[in-house]
Amino acid sequence: MGAAPTSTEDIGLDMFDAEAIARPHRFYALLREQAPVVWSEQARSWILTRYEDVKRVLRDHETFSSVRSEERRIGRKSGLLPEQVAPPGTPNMLGADRPDHTRLRVVLRQDFIPSRIGRWQSRIEAVCDQTVRGVAGRDSYDVVKGVAEPLPVTVIAELLGIPSELGVQFKRWSDAAIEPVAPNATDDDVRARNALITEFRDYLTDRIEERRVAPTEDLIGRLVAAEGEGELNQAEVLSAVNLLLLAGNETTTNLISNAVLALATQPEKQAQLRERPDLIDPAVEEFLRYDGSVQYTSRTVTKPVSFHGQTVAAGEAVIVVLASANRDPRVFERPDELDFERPRSPNKHIGFGDWIHICLGQFLARIETRAALRALLGEFDDFELAIPEDDIPYRPNFNLRGPRYLPIRERQV
Ligand code: HEM
Repeated sequence: MGAAPTSTEDIGLDMFDAEAIARPHRFYALLREQAPVVWSEQARSWILTRYEDVKRVLRDHETFSSVRSEERRIGRKSGLLPEQVAPPGTPNMLGADRPDHTRLRVVLRQDFIPSRIGRWQSRIEAVCDQTVRGVAGRDSYDVVKGVAEPLPVTVIAELLGIPSELGVQFKRWSDAAIEPVAPNATDDDVRARNALITEFRDYLTDRIEERRVAPTEDLIGRLVAAEGEGELNQAEVLSAVNLLLLAGNETTTNLISNAVLALATQPEKQAQLRERPDLIDPAVEEFLRYDGSVQYTSRTVTKPVSFHGQTVAAGEAVIVVLASANRDPRVFERPDELDFERPRSPNKHIGFGDWIHICLGQFLARIETRAALRALLGEFDDFELAIPEDDIPYRPNFNLRGPRYLPIRERQV
């Protein structure tokens, strides 16, 4: 390789390319070493890949704003409704700065602390047992459809107070909301997606209205009560329900699937977890580092800043690649190795982000992932992939990255 790349286009990175989605780490390694700050025309953003730079951005929420501009949306087609179902401009905590961020987060903070969310553990284990029991006898069991998708949808629906039988419908709505629409999408694709977003909004609005008439103790009920006390407005309630449904689904699905894929292809790691069940918690942290499910997040720069001699102007966007930072050899020894006993304790990964926007659902996601892995390790003596690893299809989403289909079976000798 000659001169250092100055754009992601120079290294052939296309975020809609299936091969790049399946194997992004070689791009990250190249950028991290040769071009730690680089422009992406496709994302219309600066891309940062080193741990130190990513941390700097996440920890300085005044210089790096979370309020999203239209410019920052990758693959935004004209005529496409925003994935956010609340009226345009309504803040949710993920896309808000202080003081709005604090106000919006405080309402839900207590519901997601370990002691409160921990009460869901036995329910989560029951869902896993029910979905996984008996599957080891099959020729092939799809982990995605079997447990990784239904578990988080069921749990978040129950937390919100929505019938979990609607799981399949939710999945359609949530896919429509989070999957980027490719630049070559047709007008029909755009219309179909808009129709799903409208359906989703109407459904959530009805559930909120019901609680105005008859208060409930579930999360929607608590948000409606906060509205009654003047802490949120009507649109912010809808926006918060929407955010919880979207933020907690695909992310957890992909973490579970990515972890199972790693265990299926690294039998010695699978054996280690069976022999040492006490390693399950550090293992979940290591999966978040090694193959976490959110590749990046983004911010808008509020005043000129410099990274490695490159000035980034106020108003420009930066993408911070968490998945690359988590494999930065400056911070993690043998970063491409899965190691449940990493010498650095606690694991310094930033798979859940960092600082004021650190994942609200992190304790829930950990309980769900742990329970799903335990159930699968208990059900199978030793599982392997039922198709070659190279044939695993990925969802068409560079950011929320994970397999669309992950068939496993008892290892054949
Ligand atoms: C493995 C699963 C998950 C991963 C990897 C993940 C990752 C993340 C990351 C990286 C952020 C920070 C984004 C930023 O700074 O811009 C975030 C924020 C957030 N996550 Fe998660 N998440 C997961 C599961 C969940 C679950 C289960 C829920 C809720 C039910 C949830 C709710 C949220 C919310 C509400 C925020 C916004 C917090 C704020 O802005 O203050 N997440 N998540």
